Amino acid sequence: MDIALAVIGGTGVYRLAALEDVEARHFDTPYGAPSGPLRIGRLGEARVAFLARHGEGHALPPHRVNYRANLHALRQAGVRRVLALNTVGGITERFGPRVLACPDQLIDYTWGRESTFWDGEGEALHVDFGHPYSTMFRHKVLAAAKVTGVRVVDGGCYGATQGPRLETNAEIARMRRDGCDLVGMTGMPEAGLARELGLEYACLAIVANWAAGCGDAQEITLAEVLDNVAAASAGLPELVAELARG
Ligand code: HPA
Repeated sequence: MDIALAVIGGTGVYRLAALEDVEARHFDTPYGAPSGPLRIGRLGEARVAFLARHGEGHALPPHRVNYRANLHALRQAGVRRVLALNTVGGITERFGPRVLACPDQLIDYTWGRESTFWDGEGEALHVDFGHPYSTMFRHKVLAAAKVTGVRVVDGGCYGATQGPRLETNAEIARMRRDGCDLVGMTGMPEAGLARELGLEYACLAIVANWAAGCGDAQEITLAEVLDNVAAASAGLPELVAELARG
């Protein structure tokens, strides 16, 4: 049976507890090893795959994740649709802690990451990236959210920063001026690589904290981040199950 959906889990999401009959598959890729095994199981009637982006023990910081290997492994497994869970900070008013959002734009501030599969000789491959997330798949995510009663903000611009440190107030102020609503460290190059592979890819951003200098942001602590991710993720199992059905 085909894999209906793959989920890439971010900070605070290391398993899909609702997956049944799970088999761990280890992939080797021309780009090296992925972050861990692909856990493929059943969610209702559908086959769903799960990959922990940072590794199952969160050993890999954002700039050390092998994004190319992860996406290549998903492709090898026959995956066509990817829901990327990304833990983020909120910059603008609608994106406070514990909000789930399905952004429709991004700005890439990362540097020095392996950001293309097109390393070979010959003509460069320039994929269209005007709409960085799959429009059709985003609509499916939003429809699944509606059916399951999970509140997901439609749209927003994700700014991908290098990390692993958090941003300065001035950096976030600049990102706000640039039009960013959300800030995270893992959105790129993942989305661009997914596009190069022709995958349907959408991001479900989990807002863990107010970004530096926004809202009532104090010092951002890991405890706060994990607490808010857990609270915001309560509806995820139903949403993912509904998405896998559709
Ligand atoms: N900035 C960048 N990445 C993040 C943040 C943040 O404030 N919160 C969670 N991931």
